[in-house]
Amino acid sequence: MSLVSDPPLYYRLHVFICTNRRPDDNRRGSCAGRGSEPLREYLKDATRAMGLKDLRINSAGCLDRCGLGPVMVIYPEGVWYSFHSIEDIDEILQTHIVKGGRVRRLMLDQGDQPVLIA
Ligand code: FES
Repeated sequence: MSLVSDPPLYYRLHVFICTNRRPDDNRRGSCAGRGSEPLREYLKDATRAMGLKDLRINSAGCLDRCGLGPVMVIYPEGVWYSFHSIEDIDEILQTHIVKGGRVRRLMLDQGDQPVLIA
């Protein structure tokens, strides 16, 4: 059996931010309902202003971690973050996206489960 190598990464980083929106009375809630859309726009604008061209900031549909949202996942590392403010986005941008570090206080663990809103 011969193994085929993966091609080089097309983007150094690929960021998926959930912008799914559910009705306000939906018990699962949604990332857009918790403010993900303007925070995604802020991150896009910030990376553009910094001249970062080796990454992509995409909107994503539901990533199925709704109760922990707003959420994003960054590949190729597969690191998940829950974020709630411009300060959170700035910290992810400077620490993870620019320097390759991690923002531990915002990271989601494998065992973190969505919480249903009563
Ligand atoms: S609505 Fe964002 S993870 Fe489901």
